[in-house]
Amino acid sequence: MFKPSWLPLAPALGEVLLLSKASNAKRRQLVVGNWKMNGNLRENADLLARITNGWQGERGADVVICPPFPYLSQAHECLRGSSIILGAQTVSERDKGAFTGETSASMLADLDCKFVIIGHNERRRMQHESDLQVAQKFEAVQKAGLIPILCVGESLEDREQGKHLETISRQLNVVFAHTGKDVFDKAVLAYEPVWAVGTGKTATPEQAEEVHKFMRSQLGALADSVRILYGGSVKAHNAQQLFALADIDGALLGGASLDADEFLAICKAAE
Ligand code: PGA
Repeated sequence: MFKPSWLPLAPALGEVLLLSKASNAKRRQLVVGNWKMNGNLRENADLLARITNGWQGERGADVVICPPFPYLSQAHECLRGSSIILGAQTVSERDKGAFTGETSASMLADLDCKFVIIGHNERRRMQHESDLQVAQKFEAVQKAGLIPILCVGESLEDREQGKHLETISRQLNVVFAHTGKDVFDKAVLAYEPVWAVGTGKTATPEQAEEVHKFMRSQLGALADSVRILYGGSVKAHNAQQLFALADIDGALLGGASLDADEFLAICKAAE
């Protein structure tokens, strides 16, 4: 469909918010590509062209791409007229001011981002983001009218000690205490076991389903409607099996989002 260049990317935010289906309806699958700190102008143009060519028209799943901040405008331009949605990898919890190097949620909204990844384990571990900071970022994202993708997940140590649900419960509860549960109708959750991210090890279907079910059970009245993604070494060869599970509503991809064929194969498996 032709879109005049002054219109924002499709779909509009109101439509995006409606994507979380009402109770009992089948939740629409969502695939999010997190490029992390990869890419350059030339490679991005090529990757985005290949992805938009392979994902045209109305499709049966939502697809979001989260490039590094310097390339948001480039991606915005390249995705114009496609159904692929723009997202960001992180955000500041603050509105504005003397915070060198930070980016506010309203700036991301200005650039037509619709989703923002919050609490990715690489930021929790390497940038020392606390549970409370993650909750504040979640709130800032929603205040700007964007949709947070809240990541939670246990370390290998937690998993080996059988404390994985305890960790996930703590990470969720800090956000619940800060914002309440009602606001999760405008949020996405992602379960990303730390030991599975970038390692080539994927949670088994039983491990993933146990945690997704647990997370869903924590959502109260919204249990049936919130989309919960799985992330951690999802590839074309294992996506189908994960997407077939009742409580998995799509994937958060790192490495696989940098390869157009792999990425498209996963998006198609989600349809
Ligand atoms: P991976 O990363 O797919 O490379 O394991 C997932 C993520 O970090 O979200």
